[in-house]
Amino acid sequence: MTLSCSARWLACDDARQVKAVDLRARELIVVSAIDPKRGRASRSGMGADIDETCLRVRPMTEPDLGAVLAVEELAYSFPWSKGIFRDCLRVGYCCWVMEHRDLLEGYGIMSVGAGESHILNLCIRPASHGHGFGRRLLMHLLETASAHRADTTLLEVRPSNAHAISLYQSVGFTQVGVRRGYYPNDEGREDALLLAIELANLKGPTHA
Ligand SMILES: CC(C)(COP(=O)(O)OP(=O)(O)OC[C@H]1O[C@@H](n2cnc3c(N)ncnc32)[C@H](O)[C@@H]1OP(=O)(O)O)[C@@H](O)C(=O)NCCC(=O)NCCS
Repeated sequence: MTLSCSARWLACDDARQVKAVDLRARELIVVSAIDPKRGRASRSGMGADIDETCLRVRPMTEPDLGAVLAVEELAYSFPWSKGIFRDCLRVGYCCWVMEHRDLLEGYGIMSVGAGESHILNLCIRPASHGHGFGRRLLMHLLETASAHRADTTLLEVRPSNAHAISLYQSVGFTQVGVRRGYYPNDEGREDALLLAIELANLKGPTHA
């Protein structure tokens, strides 16, 4: 089985610990509550094409998995399986979908426990890249982590994934390590950069 973002970590996770902090979202979040003007200028004019009144982030549910998997398979060469998403829901990871005009534009999956959160997947529908969805969803995950008293957020990213690295650095993530041979690629394995942010140092649109 080939996996995309941080599934190897997921497989090693102590689900009992994560379950203790059940972060499945409990409320709908209207993303327009985040004021884009407080963020840095965006190459895409962050949200220029977004109708704020039709944008929301809500908890992912089992019936979303078909649409989620369709985006996953378009976005990654080594996508997660439906079973992995189902496990994320089952163990109580923080699983969100972002919808714009009722279309699923992306999703984010994160675990939180013991003062630390770990973004396991952040993905936007490829046709919608560069419109500000990814930044908004990332901020939402970080705000959620903060609301659950995490101090730090970690994630892995492929060194070849320049767009994602640029997004993460722009909000304050820095590299704290390398995980050797972490990801599958066409030649075999590829390293992952391990990035981290102290949530107190978060840049851009901030916590509500
Ligand atoms: C990474 C990803 C989530 C970004 O989502 P997005 O909606 O395209 O990103 P946004 O439009 O919010 O842009 C946010 C930032 O990403 C970076 N970025 C986006 N498009 C870019 C491009 N064409 N060139 C360079 N950087 C780009 C920029 O830093 C941008 O900030 P700016 O708009 O202030 O310049 C998206 O590309 C994606 O889903 N990729 C496939 C899945 C993936 O690789 N996920 C990360 C796994 S670790």
